[in-house]
Amino acid sequence: MKRIDMQFKNTAYPIIIDKGWEATLSKIPSNIFLKKALIISDTNVGPLYSNEIIKALSENDIGIRTILIDPGESSKTIEKAMDIYTTALNFRMDRDSLFIALGGGVVGDLAGFTASTYMRGVPYLQIPTSLLAQVDSSVGGKTAVNHPLGKNMIGSFYQPKGVLINTDTLKSLPVRQISTGLAEVIKYGVIADKNLFSYLEENIEKVFSFDDKVLNHIIYKSCTIKAKIVAQDEKDKGIRGILNFGHTIGHAIEAETSFTEYTHGESVAIGMVAEAELAQLLGLIDKGFVDRLKNLLLKAKLPIKLPNLETDRLIKHMQRDKKNKIGKIVFVLPTKLGRVEMFDNIEYVRLAQILKGS
Ligand SMILES: NC(=O)c1ccc[n+]([C@@H]2O[C@H](COP(=O)([O-])OP(=O)(O)OC[C@H]3O[C@@H](n4cnc5c(N)ncnc54)[C@H](O)[C@@H]3O)[C@@H](O)[C@H]2O)c1
Ligand SMILES: [Zn+2]
Repeated sequence: MKRIDMQFKNTAYPIIIDKGWEATLSKIPSNIFLKKALIISDTNVGPLYSNEIIKALSENDIGIRTILIDPGESSKTIEKAMDIYTTALNFRMDRDSLFIALGGGVVGDLAGFTASTYMRGVPYLQIPTSLLAQVDSSVGGKTAVNHPLGKNMIGSFYQPKGVLINTDTLKSLPVRQISTGLAEVIKYGVIADKNLFSYLEENIEKVFSFDDKVLNHIIYKSCTIKAKIVAQDEKDKGIRGILNFGHTIGHAIEAETSFTEYTHGESVAIGMVAEAELAQLLGLIDKGFVDRLKNLLLKAKLPIKLPNLETDRLIKHMQRDKKNKIGKIVFVLPTKLGRVEMFDNIEYVRLAQILKGS
């Protein structure tokens, strides 16, 4: 078992990383078990695991409802949030009720958003079940739904009462989703921890055979790095931006391929390589760095090559990113392994050169 204590100005809560439901759920402080709980999950995850949560809650004599959404990004909508509000209202949930997000990042973001707005805010727990959710989306308190005009455009910063990670849930996750989560783990190595990067080079194959020790280690390291960064910048006004390494180009690829061709992690993998090549072009790092990154991504079964997309259109997507300051595209570029800096002065020609792959 590993525990990370999240500390914010107005709240503190634990992230628990363990194996098996009994062990994981037993770590929740009992004062969090209120009178009623609503489990929010999707139709892939709910049938597999919601009974385990219900069993644990029943011991505390709690009334429970479950709502299952269709899996996937198309469920991260205000309409689905309305369905959740309706279920909660019909169940007469009040501010002493608990929302529980059981699933990947889609469920986590949607459940967190509804928890932050239902009756101006009810407590909620994150029980992330995808690798991406366990190392990234469940940590840091960003919640959101999508708007037809943009992803994650409607949301809030709202911290949960706890994050409970049962690494056993990864065994039912499709391999492609393991890879997508690994892209973020590799990102943490590049931006903040060269030892994590080397550890992954040695051990990444063992992730695919669900080696408990390796899973526990990489999830713990990832959450520790993200926790440390977000604790310094809860509302994403400064240093939290370094989590966007690979994402400036990655988001543009996702948007230009209408979010259908690649998973988020796959786009970020391609984005990390392109941004590392940009850093090499600027003389910030050497070719050896880029090669190590590419090799590790390949071992994680991730793509590394930019697809054939129009450069100008990709750059237009980057200019629209909500992270930009005063209209300038912000890049997070490595300066050595385990260290990145933010740049908003990259020349168009250099960026275009990278995006054209020449
Ligand atoms: N809030 C944040 O800080 C933050 C950070 C990164 C990403 N996100 C968001 O996270 C979302 C992506 O998350 P995701 O990659 O987890 O996608 P997801 O929630 O769609 O999950 C991926 C797929 O795996 C399935 N799944 C999840 N856990 C499973 C399990 N244990 N067994 C079997 N199937 C399982 C889901 O049903 C889904 O089909 C995006 O909407 C993104 O915007 C948010
Ligand atoms: Zn990401």
